[in-house]
Amino acid sequence: MSDGLILGIETSCDETGVAVVRGREVLASVLATQTEDHSRFGGVVPEVAARAHVEAIRPLAHLALAKAGVHSDQLDAVAVTRGPGLSGALMVGVAFAKALAWTLGKPLIPVDHMEGHLMAPLIEHEAYAGPAVAVLASGGHSQIVHVRSFGDYEVLGSTIDDAAGEAFDKLARFMGLGYPGGPAIDEASQNGDPDAVTFPRALSDRPFDFSFSGLKTSVVTYLEKAKAAGSLPPVEDVAASIQEAIVDVLVDKTFNAVRETGARAVAGGGGVLANRRLRERLAARADAEGVELYLPTPAYCTDNGAMIAVAAVRHLDEGGAALDIDVDPGLSLA
Ligand code: KG4
Ligand code: ZN
Repeated sequence: MSDGLILGIETSCDETGVAVVRGREVLASVLATQTEDHSRFGGVVPEVAARAHVEAIRPLAHLALAKAGVHSDQLDAVAVTRGPGLSGALMVGVAFAKALAWTLGKPLIPVDHMEGHLMAPLIEHEAYAGPAVAVLASGGHSQIVHVRSFGDYEVLGSTIDDAAGEAFDKLARFMGLGYPGGPAIDEASQNGDPDAVTFPRALSDRPFDFSFSGLKTSVVTYLEKAKAAGSLPPVEDVAASIQEAIVDVLVDKTFNAVRETGARAVAGGGGVLANRRLRERLAARADAEGVELYLPTPAYCTDNGAMIAVAAVRHLDEGGAALDIDVDPGLSLA
């Protein structure tokens, strides 16, 4: 892998991320989180997100360069998330990246956010390469991807309704556990019994696709009935049971794809891959099946600039994109 020096910018949703990498080595990765700005609304408000990116991006880019001990003149390229994501939020990152690339006279490399998640494991796992099966699960997307090699992807399955992170977020909100819901349910589950309540595991007839809206309905119905009957189980048991239902489906579908493709490696990316139970269960299954498992540390599972820079490395020799590129909120892998 080339050891070019790349500044990566991520602004697709509610985290402003900037990183400086050399090849797959992260020299600095900094983040401005907007959780506080959105929590009182119970979800990400696009206009609030865009505004917060505007405020954060310039100081954050300076901070990343200073932490890395790199002067902007030394950069080989500027990489930025082009999509998918919130258009106003994406525009802030892309406009800043264009201006920086133009000022420095360096190539601009647009990156697909999901390819960033898909390549994040490379930061800590040098051996990661295709063929592999990648499970990508975040607030906006849930996909099972056959990675033949980097850049050559087949999306085998995806969610037909809510993304896995969205299911965590909506259910946590319904249970009053706060926002973002994934970490809240992860935490509440630590002392809970995953077998306390059996929630449905949907789409058993479609090997690689997900559906999480049925789970949501089932949890809401269950809680309303239990409340009316005065038999509500402890919140940590409900949280652990919800988590188990989501994790079961993600693990099963991932390993269905391992069987189908014959790949001997599994990779993961996206905020949901920070989930402790999911990581444990993937590790156990990979071990049982003799398959390599490449997961980023939780900080590189959730949105960050380092994964964007790392995904850009293999495009360094292509000379960069024209400076009139636009954001692509609906961009999809393959
Ligand atoms: O990848 P990401 O940071 O942003 C998007 O691209 O959407 O993913 C955010 C999602 C949120 O839905 C959040 O609740 C979920 O990832 N998440 C988790 C955990 N940490 C973040 N879900 C389950 N367990 C976690 N520990
Ligand atoms: Zn993401």
